[in-house]
Amino acid sequence: MIAGNWKMNLNAQLASVLVHRLQERIATHKNVEVVLAPSMLHIQPLSLQIDKRKFKLAAQNAHFEDHGAFTGEVAMTQLQHLVSYVIIGHSERRHVFGEKDDLIAKKVASCVRNGMSAILCVGETNQDKAAGETNNVLHDQVTAGLRNITSAEIDNIVIAYEPVWAISNGKDFGEKKTPKPYDVKDAARAIRKNVRAMFGEQAEAKVRVMYGGSTNPENAKGYLNVEGVDGLLVGGASLNYEQFSKMVEIAHQSTVQG
Ligand code: PGA
Repeated sequence: MIAGNWKMNLNAQLASVLVHRLQERIATHKNVEVVLAPSMLHIQPLSLQIDKRKFKLAAQNAHFEDHGAFTGEVAMTQLQHLVSYVIIGHSERRHVFGEKDDLIAKKVASCVRNGMSAILCVGETNQDKAAGETNNVLHDQVTAGLRNITSAEIDNIVIAYEPVWAISNGKDFGEKKTPKPYDVKDAARAIRKNVRAMFGEQAEAKVRVMYGGSTNPENAKGYLNVEGVDGLLVGGASLNYEQFSKMVEIAHQSTVQG
């Protein structure tokens, strides 16, 4: 899976142009799922524009309640027929908006209950890493995030490993430190181990794990070749149609080559 998180970027016209450009460049691949996460505002019009054989849509966030007095929020029930995925617990939601594991667990459960798949983001901060706490943080975030899920629902879960220190914030895109592929391998293994402890061996093998954080066409292959990694969650580079379509092509080639 190659997923593009557009964050709070692009107006309606530019979002539509980006989809148009991607549609021209990206072929229909059976072996690569391409997911676009535009601003909430543009999901509905883009759901009419996208070639559904090539793209699926994701929301970047949603509320866990089905409806109610929650000014400014969008419910999973309102997204249900528009998107296939909802990104939950992105580090910007955790660290800028103060979302805690409890809330994230409710969102994951609501997302799956409403027939969509969750892309649960987990990852350590710089401080956690320096303190040697990476595996503990992953354990806590995975265990808490999937607390309300059953083993039958694991097909609807994707876990994105996104070390907070590796995520570009738009201003310094391209200059961030990135983890070595073997660090990502260790993290993917730790995530799967937690899934096994909760849901058993089959779930460990089945759950999809992605890497995200300053990915681009230059480093995509290295991460995609990491054992236990099934895809990339792309931020900055997903706003550039040439870079993003190149990354989809790299994913296609790497699955063809096994
Ligand atoms: P980045 O963002 O690729 O710009 O580092 C990744 C993310 O925030 O999901």
